[in-house]
Amino acid sequence: MTIRWKHLIVLVVIAPLLGLAVGWSGLMSVRASTGHWAVTDWFLHWVMRNSVSVRAVATADVPPLEDPGLVPGAAGHFETGCAICHGSPAQPRPDSVLAMLPPPPDLKTSVPEWSDAELFEIVKHGVRFTGMPAWPVQSRDDEVWSMVAFVRKLPDMDAGEYIAASGLHGIGHAGEVSPLPLTCESCHAENRLNDGSHIPRLAGQSEAYLLNALKAYSDKQRPSGIMQVAVGTLPAESLPELAAYYAKQPIAARPVAQHDPALVEKGRTLAEQGRLSDKIPACLSCHDKAGANLAYPKLSGQNSAYMRQQLKLFQEGTRGGSSYSHLMTGSAKNLTPEDINEVTAYFSQR
Ligand code: HEC
Ligand code: HEC
Ligand code: HEC
Repeated sequence: MTIRWKHLIVLVVIAPLLGLAVGWSGLMSVRASTGHWAVTDWFLHWVMRNSVSVRAVATADVPPLEDPGLVPGAAGHFETGCAICHGSPAQPRPDSVLAMLPPPPDLKTSVPEWSDAELFEIVKHGVRFTGMPAWPVQSRDDEVWSMVAFVRKLPDMDAGEYIAASGLHGIGHAGEVSPLPLTCESCHAENRLNDGSHIPRLAGQSEAYLLNALKAYSDKQRPSGIMQVAVGTLPAESLPELAAYYAKQPIAARPVAQHDPALVEKGRTLAEQGRLSDKIPACLSCHDKAGANLAYPKLSGQNSAYMRQQLKLFQEGTRGGSSYSHLMTGSAKNLTPEDINEVTAYFSQR
């Protein structure tokens, strides 16, 4: 009996030392060029699949992903943040990334193998030891879902559809594509937006508000993986230039958003009067009021889908924003989902 215990103790001490010795000797190869043994490859994929599937079970309910307003922001982000590794219908994966181990898969063939919840798990958390990054901010599940909605569509897209969805412009034809520098217009161009867009209209906002918003994204005071990546590589001095540029843009005429007139009327009452019993202030006491603080955003003509999402974020406590954003957190707290539908319908038509 005593001998067995000794053996065990010797093993427990020796085994890690042996491991260290093998690591120190340099005998183990970390070369990507030689690839994995087939068995290692199989094992790693098996572990990855199991990890993703088990965690996906706990994922909250899958929201509706058919909303077309979800696609453009995700598609634009895919072009700048994902296509460099995964390629796209407009551009194959470059040879340099095919030499990664493992190589980033062609999503056209691999996406159909995963469920929505599994894709959510992969896109939100990334995959360790593979180069697949996590979503830049962990508090914006709505953005991750929009990316899931987009990658679902990816396998059926041809180059033209992809270019249209991601807002790429200045491209010749498929096959001659060069990666374009990130442009704000690929997402924010007025002619690409409508009332169902989750991307906001910028024209009509004051320079002060736009600059505060851009600073809030770049200082990570307003969490958004999409906008964080868009402003992340810009030098600090270009933020005031961009704010000034967009503040001067004319507001393009477009068809008035279609909403039930009864809904809009209720929204008007709330915007003008608030509701004292629920401590909801009149929105118009701050927004779109002559002489109001220029750091308060304009809501009239803003896309209702974008405003609904922002109000939800204020209610969850994840919107963030400038040093004035606490004013809005209090104002949004007691709005019901019906109030949100009504008041955003009203402002979008105003
Ligand atoms: C630096 C390169 C890189 C970037 C950038 C990248 N990925 Fe990946 N991605 C990978 C690699 C490598 C894998 C394979 C992981 C594995 O096999 O375990 C992967 C796997 C995936 C998968 C699972 C597919 C499968 O069957 O393995 C999805 C979906 C995915 N990526 C989506 C995205 C999205 C969306 C983005 C942008 C937000 C993105 N990736 C950015 C490298 C990258
Ligand atoms: C890939 C698409 C994409 C690109 C590129 C992009 N944006 Fe955005 N932008 C968005 C989305 C989506 C939001 C909403 C983010 C959120 O939920 O906070 C947004 C929000 C904003 C806001 C906040 C507006 C408001 O009403 O609060 C400003 C300002 C802005 N973007 C300016 C820019 C500028 C300037 C650039 C170029 C440097 C740029 N964006 C590039 C998609 C994009
Ligand atoms: C006390 C002043 C105040 C009141 C009252 C107020 N807001 Fe706001 N609201 C703000 C401020 C300030 C911001 C911008 C926060 C920031 O700097 O990011 C904001 C932001 C918003 C946004 C996001 C706009 C964008 O472009 O991202 C929406 C939507 C909004 N408010 C809707 C409402 C509604 C609906 C009401 C009425 C129920 C309301 N607000 C009442 C001050 C107020």
